[in-house]
Amino acid sequence: MSISKSGENQRAVTTLRLTQMKKSKEKISSLTAYDFLTAKIFDEAGVDLILVGDSLGNVFQGNETTLPVTIEEMIYHTKAVVKGCTRALVVADMPFMSYQVASNEALRNAGRIMKESNCNAVKLEGGARVCKTVNKITKAGIPVMGHLGLTPQSINKFGSYRARGTNEEEAEKIFNDAILLQEAGAFAIVLEKIPAELAKKITEALEIPTIGIGAGQYCDGQILVYTDMLGLTVDFNPRFVRRYAELSETITSSVSNYIKDIKDLNFPNENESY
Ligand code: KIV
Repeated sequence: MSISKSGENQRAVTTLRLTQMKKSKEKISSLTAYDFLTAKIFDEAGVDLILVGDSLGNVFQGNETTLPVTIEEMIYHTKAVVKGCTRALVVADMPFMSYQVASNEALRNAGRIMKESNCNAVKLEGGARVCKTVNKITKAGIPVMGHLGLTPQSINKFGSYRARGTNEEEAEKIFNDAILLQEAGAFAIVLEKIPAELAKKITEALEIPTIGIGAGQYCDGQILVYTDMLGLTVDFNPRFVRRYAELSETITSSVSNYIKDIKDLNFPNENESY
């Protein structure tokens, strides 16, 4: 579908629009972004939702996990992303320990992220245990996106990044958590690394959209970490990532050519000088 300058797709994407897209069976496209330029490119390409994921802890900061990411860092990156977007809905992750202690503190932190970054919504991980908090935040007028299945902030509890919901007990818990999150007021739910059939069952049971990552084709939308889908993270190859570019190779050969041109006295030439 093309994105015309004056057409339906040019208007800013809202949480309501995402629900309408689910109803009309129009799939929702989303990507992560962590900076102004990348967000601007994705927004202009027509991505519906941009998530400033705490995956920035891995791909931007080089940490093993997302746990060290702070509220200040989330606000810093989200501010830059918001400036690059005129159409996409911008969602900011609430970092580890910014919403787990008490729902009042979670509300204050969600409010801070919204107020200081100007994003459109926040996302937090977990099911039943975060529902009271989700309810409190949404009642204050801050849209909340849920996140179920593989929840990277709980890596130390589970000990691995294996797929979730692969046995009956786990699948039932994820399904029930999805219903509870909807009841608590979440406007959408990310389903990460769960079987496609479970994601289908959840998607059919919910009125709010599901956004899948490694959760198969039946979700209402899809999200990928952009550094994976553009081939910047070369040593991370899970089966759910489709690579649309090999930017690492492009950058390596471009920089090698640049170095060679300098060494060979080929750069700058007369036209590139004053
Ligand atoms: O932090 C992140 O990028 C995410 C996506 C994997 C959904 O939560």
